[in-house]
Amino acid sequence: VVDIGTLYKHTGMFTYDPGFTSTASCESKITYIDGDEGVLLHRGYPIEQLAQKGDFLEVCYLLLYGELPTAAQKKDFDYRVTHHTMVHEQMSKFFSGYRRDAHPMAVMVGTVGALSAFYHDSTDITDPHQRMVASLRMIAKMPTIAAMAYKYHIGQPFVYPKNDLDYASNFLRMCFAVPCEEYKVNPVLARAMDRIFILHADHEQNASTSTVRLAGSSGANPFACIAAGIACLWGPAHGGANEAALNMLMEIGSVDRIPEYIARAKDKNDPFRLMGFGHRVYKNYDPRAKIMQQTMYEVLEATGHSDDPLMQVALELERIALSDEYFKEKKLYPNVDFYSGITLRALGFPTTMFTVLFALARTVGWIAQWNEMIEDPQQRIGRPRQLYTGAPKRDYVAVSKR
Ligand code: ACO
Repeated sequence: VVDIGTLYKHTGMFTYDPGFTSTASCESKITYIDGDEGVLLHRGYPIEQLAQKGDFLEVCYLLLYGELPTAAQKKDFDYRVTHHTMVHEQMSKFFSGYRRDAHPMAVMVGTVGALSAFYHDSTDITDPHQRMVASLRMIAKMPTIAAMAYKYHIGQPFVYPKNDLDYASNFLRMCFAVPCEEYKVNPVLARAMDRIFILHADHEQNASTSTVRLAGSSGANPFACIAAGIACLWGPAHGGANEAALNMLMEIGSVDRIPEYIARAKDKNDPFRLMGFGHRVYKNYDPRAKIMQQTMYEVLEATGHSDDPLMQVALELERIALSDEYFKEKKLYPNVDFYSGITLRALGFPTTMFTVLFALARTVGWIAQWNEMIEDPQQRIGRPRQLYTGAPKRDYVAVSKR
């Protein structure tokens, strides 16, 4: 029974919009996307300029405060983030409760959710100071937690933050340094890592950001909200696509098998989709994918993998798909995940860490959007309606009579 009449009587208007393809859930000043033109702006600044000329912490400041920092503001912000990079020592014991073969994203959901148990002095969301401390803590601790998840996954001891390094270098060191061995961060790779973080920093009301806002709309603390965002990001249709895209490229394996997979992607009876292709908003080339492709070239060259056969498969797959009528008609172009897998693998990360890196970078977007929501005078608890299609009213029947 679809009781639209009653709903209409009470609300004046009722829309049914599965997947929210045409429903704005909020007002926001943070990120603008023109999906038809392939444009992405943060606070008005094109992603291309931020990725080429800025650094990740500068973009974090921009997303949180609305303006690019002055030199003094940047220095102060970098210092405040650095100040929060350590996690409570008891968290290392918390890690050892996970099974060794747990997926690092499962570990991230659990560990970030537990932050509110460690940092309850920044969970009063009515206090702007506590909100900012929680925001800085999230941005600062995510690399540490992500690196711990990785080290735990591979059975190596945790490496503590070294705070005279920049954000990306510090993260790479926490992931790849081992005790008793010299580790020097390659500046080309650190710059590439930083740019990858910038490319993933925010993307307006995608599924995980909407999840963070919805969770936060009830007044839940920021750590719990970010954990909800991480859980949502994990899905293969969202952040899990970078892992799925690389797995797909490995499965295809060689250029001569591409037509077989293109045919499968077009076959309505086959659930297979080209991973790293298509986007809800971009009906043109995802601007992040172009920068990611360039970053891929730089990383492959710096790591001596310029002849990576998977890169050849990816480039040829893109060329064939973009000249295919099916993909043209449906406006399916590579998204940010298409080239990120090859790049992250060349940086030394296993596929299981790819979505973790996405979560690390997206944390600033989630927390900026969460702050914006809390400060919005229009903010109300998110409570979607439904079209009820179940049984009409009926009487209970005793179990002996059913
Ligand atoms: N391969 C083949 N066909 C596709 C693909 C694809 N990757 N993506 C969409 N299509 C087709 C669909 O089958 C559908 O066809 P139909 O109209 O004949 O039914 C049509 O294009 C529209 O697809 P929808 O799923 O309705 O589009 P939606 O906007 O809901 O989904 C999504 C977007 C989830 C990104 C989709 O394109 C997809 O699954 N892509 C692969 C996964 C992926 O790369 N995700 C990463 C997204 S970016 C990010 O999260 C950072």
